[in-house]
Amino acid sequence: MCGIVAYIGGQNATPIVLGGLKKLEYRGYDSAGIAVLQNGKIEIRRDAGKIDHLETLITQEPLEGNLGIGHTRWATHGAPNMQNAHPHISSNGEIVIVHNGIVENYLSLREELSAEGAVFRSETDTETIVLLIEHYYAVTQDLLRAVQETLKRIKGAHGIVVMSSREPDKLVAARLGNAGGIAIGRGNGEMFIASDLPAIVEHTHDITFLDSEQIAVVQKDGLTLQTLAGTPIEPIWNHIPWDPVSAEKGRYRHFMQKEIHEQVRSLSDTMVGRIDFDDYRIMLPDLHLTADEAQHIRKIFITACGTAYHAGLVGKILIEQIAHIPVEVMVASEFRYLDPIIDEGTVVLAISQSGETADTLAAMEEGRRKGAKLWSIVNAIGSQAMRGADGSISMQVGPEIGVASTKAFTAPILDLYMLAVYLADLRGELTDEKRHELVQDLLKVPTLAQKTLAREGEVKKIAAKYKDIRNILYLGRGINMPIAYEGALKLKEISYIHAEGYPAGEMKHGPIALIDQELPVLVIAPKDKWYEKMISQIEQAKARGGKVITIATEGDTLIPELANEVMWIPETPWLLSPVITSIPLQLFAYHIATLLGLDVDQPRNLAKSVTVE
Ligand code: F6R
Repeated sequence: MCGIVAYIGGQNATPIVLGGLKKLEYRGYDSAGIAVLQNGKIEIRRDAGKIDHLETLITQEPLEGNLGIGHTRWATHGAPNMQNAHPHISSNGEIVIVHNGIVENYLSLREELSAEGAVFRSETDTETIVLLIEHYYAVTQDLLRAVQETLKRIKGAHGIVVMSSREPDKLVAARLGNAGGIAIGRGNGEMFIASDLPAIVEHTHDITFLDSEQIAVVQKDGLTLQTLAGTPIEPIWNHIPWDPVSAEKGRYRHFMQKEIHEQVRSLSDTMVGRIDFDDYRIMLPDLHLTADEAQHIRKIFITACGTAYHAGLVGKILIEQIAHIPVEVMVASEFRYLDPIIDEGTVVLAISQSGETADTLAAMEEGRRKGAKLWSIVNAIGSQAMRGADGSISMQVGPEIGVASTKAFTAPILDLYMLAVYLADLRGELTDEKRHELVQDLLKVPTLAQKTLAREGEVKKIAAKYKDIRNILYLGRGINMPIAYEGALKLKEISYIHAEGYPAGEMKHGPIALIDQELPVLVIAPKDKWYEKMISQIEQAKARGGKVITIATEGDTLIPELANEVMWIPETPWLLSPVITSIPLQLFAYHIATLLGLDVDQPRNLAKSVTVE
């Protein structure tokens, strides 16, 4: 959702902050702004609309200075307009803030500050924070202490960066709860702050992350870190290997297309360092799991949102089939409200691309509260979901910029497969022969993905035929049932076409009533144990005049006779088929949306990281 970027050093902050904000555009926003300390005075440019518009404002009225903060805002309190856009400035014009999060007690604070004579110039909750800092600064004459006092007063989860013309040698950054991350990057005589790594990896790979209730005073030569209560902390510096080029579109038209094609590499990358080729064993050292602990796991509870939840549904089948451990899967937004049955024999496994989804983090907290062991499968290195877990599996796929998740859907399926094999091995459930077979199957996946991607042109032709539909039903069974959900989600989020994913066996219990010439049905029918049943689905849909698009295994001669269209996949081991069947569905959604001329990378109303409930 909202994005934060800040800079202190010897260069002009304006292009660095603007460049960083551009890298965060994918998170979704409706206004943007920047504040720079120019000749001892804080100058702000901000407005509703995209960063291109902000750049135009800056071209008209340039900004130059060595200290700057910027923000992309996703409106929560107050409409997306100039007054509500960040940064927000104090009444005396000396303190300015950018903020991610929601001040839950802002109405009472607003009343309190108004009673003291404060004048609010926006409808935002954020303005209460800067006015409170101003209030405490008048008493303490110290920016750090004023921020500390303020943070004690505000409720909710927050990430903030503050600067003051009275203390031009520093930025103060703080984090409270799980409102998205604050990463601080160290350069040579300069420092960078951002809510998300793509904004700063171009400048530095030397990064530290703020934990909840930590405050950093960032100066051009380093930082000092302390808790909200004032206890000093030694920062932990991480080397982030991300290549800045992977955060660029390269030769592709959209990030989503690039990320779909990157899957050949990302599916290999997610295996890197995890396979011992001497005896075909899986190694997941970051889970910190002993064989004894593995024996005592009685249940795994997977929790996640959206696409990550669909990966979790596939994970249930993988873990139950391979490791024979019972698995429950629950959307994270429900988890903490349904009193899930958890004990010390339960592992709560969160899956999250961003590692900062508020509901997923809250589900992890609930798991912790109930005594479960916590694991996570996360892409964003250093994110809260990674740091807050007892063990984690990094997706290792590099930044995912397109709002519609693609490579961060298929990689965790492989991670869950590796987890299943690893657990089965530790629990003594696998013969050597079976383990070899499972790992050999795994190694085939990148090539199978490549073969599927090579058929993009055929999928694009089908997309062109169906781009004007208004509804579509996706059907899948068994391990491909979650892929029906995921395929439908991909299409609806970027093309705004109503798409519904349904368990194929449930068709006759209701949805079959919908089928006519106007409602195409997309049937996922690889050659597996559900194949015959899927053929019968195709026949039932055809009998009612429905147009049928299928995903079928190369060499199948029956499906082309029955279906109107076929998207082909190569023959794939059934447990791994969801990784491959999801690729044509990603391409189908992508091409329909681009043929409709839609903004594929930043679809309306969607944010890449959902950091509020
Ligand atoms: C869909 C999509 C969302 C996310 C969901 C969880 O394409 O991107 O459904 O999967 O918001 O996000 P993470 O994985 O960051 O927790």
